[in-house]
Amino acid sequence: MRDILAPESARWRAFTQVFAEVVESAGYGLIIPPMMEDLGVFTRLGDATDVVTKEMYDFVDKGERHVALRPEQTASVCRAFAQHRPVTPWKAWYSGPNFRYEKPQRGRYRQFDQVGVEVLGVDDPYLDVEVIALGWEFYRRLGLQQVTLLLNSLGEPDDRARYVEALRQHFDAAGDDLSEQSRRTLDKNPLRVLDSKRREDQPIVAAAPTIDQFWSDAAAEHFATVQSGLRELDIAFTVDMKLVRGLDYYRRTTFEFQGGTLDSAQNALGGGGRYDGLVEDLGGPATPGVGFALGVDRTLLACDDEGVFDAPDPAVDAFVVDTTGGAQALAITAALRQAGLRADRAYENRSMKAQMKAANRSGAAYAVIVGTDEVDNGTVAVRPLRGDGEQVTIARDSLITDLHTRLQGSNQ
Ligand code: HAM
Repeated sequence: MRDILAPESARWRAFTQVFAEVVESAGYGLIIPPMMEDLGVFTRLGDATDVVTKEMYDFVDKGERHVALRPEQTASVCRAFAQHRPVTPWKAWYSGPNFRYEKPQRGRYRQFDQVGVEVLGVDDPYLDVEVIALGWEFYRRLGLQQVTLLLNSLGEPDDRARYVEALRQHFDAAGDDLSEQSRRTLDKNPLRVLDSKRREDQPIVAAAPTIDQFWSDAAAEHFATVQSGLRELDIAFTVDMKLVRGLDYYRRTTFEFQGGTLDSAQNALGGGGRYDGLVEDLGGPATPGVGFALGVDRTLLACDDEGVFDAPDPAVDAFVVDTTGGAQALAITAALRQAGLRADRAYENRSMKAQMKAANRSGAAYAVIVGTDEVDNGTVAVRPLRGDGEQVTIARDSLITDLHTRLQGSNQ
């Protein structure tokens, strides 16, 4: 778990802001679920996922309730849907931290932020396309160019069950040729064996049956429409029949956005899919659902690698230097801030030299300087701190207009 300090923290906020703009323009409303839920909400994610069995931060609270910090937010959104029964389609977006007791490394943390969307109540494959397109548009707005989209369909629940059984038989037949780790995974979730990165498993995984042989007509048709919709929007994708994803709730469409610059263990920038059935599991009516979540930490690492989406400039517009004791700086900064300018000042009545040093360090565009002469004459001195402009003395009354004009000029 890490501290995110300025200016990186401002970049995080800008990141969420861009996401909000993208998804709110498509009719999504913000949901702020609690960070902790009854443990049962998350155990619905499936007892075959590490997220639930090994990585949950759960504990018994003072009221003897067994609760857990959320490892993701899809389950919370579905729980909220079952509880509040909003009108469908219900389009929700979220941002915030999640907790998983994972082995920390670059791009993998125990507290990590996600932004995401979920839509409940609509079975239309064009909605899958909309959801994927929103993720794609978001990466485009960040400036990322090396993101690839992998797509798969896990079929209807029955198709998926038949496929899991066929995989179990296939991997069982491999016996000891399969790595010990994969044999253990096989006991819990044969689909996850497809994710094995172990060399000895590769030929066995390559020879495994593929999900398309098990798709029902309805699932195949749904998936075909998703693909044609993506083509219609010029969104490039690769169908990857081995894409199963880490959570158990997926049915039909699943997808993952991968970053081209990150190590393969952390290259999933985000992912999602359909999870028809989850709301029902959480005590609500049978309701289709689709969504995705993107990891903020990893996506920003990808931005670093591609040299895009820098932190916003944290510098103030004006830094007030007051050599008369500090009360002048108090009044001037207050007036500047009220006028919508970003202003900072020096404290503790330091020397002119020390205050100018602080002004330069602040990165401000201008120093506004007041000494006794300026106070007597009702003036202030304005000194450009970037570039090579000259210091000028102006009437104090015109400071705000003057700074606005200068800043507008420098922005053009
Ligand atoms: P997920 O694949 O578990 O899916 O997580 C989505 C993204 O969160 C990952 O692609 C990754 O970028 C980021 N992430 C996950 N774990 C960590 C970690 N320990 N450290 C840093 N980043 C991490 C879900 O969470 C689903 N709720 C997505 C979804 C929404 N499916 C349908 N709707």
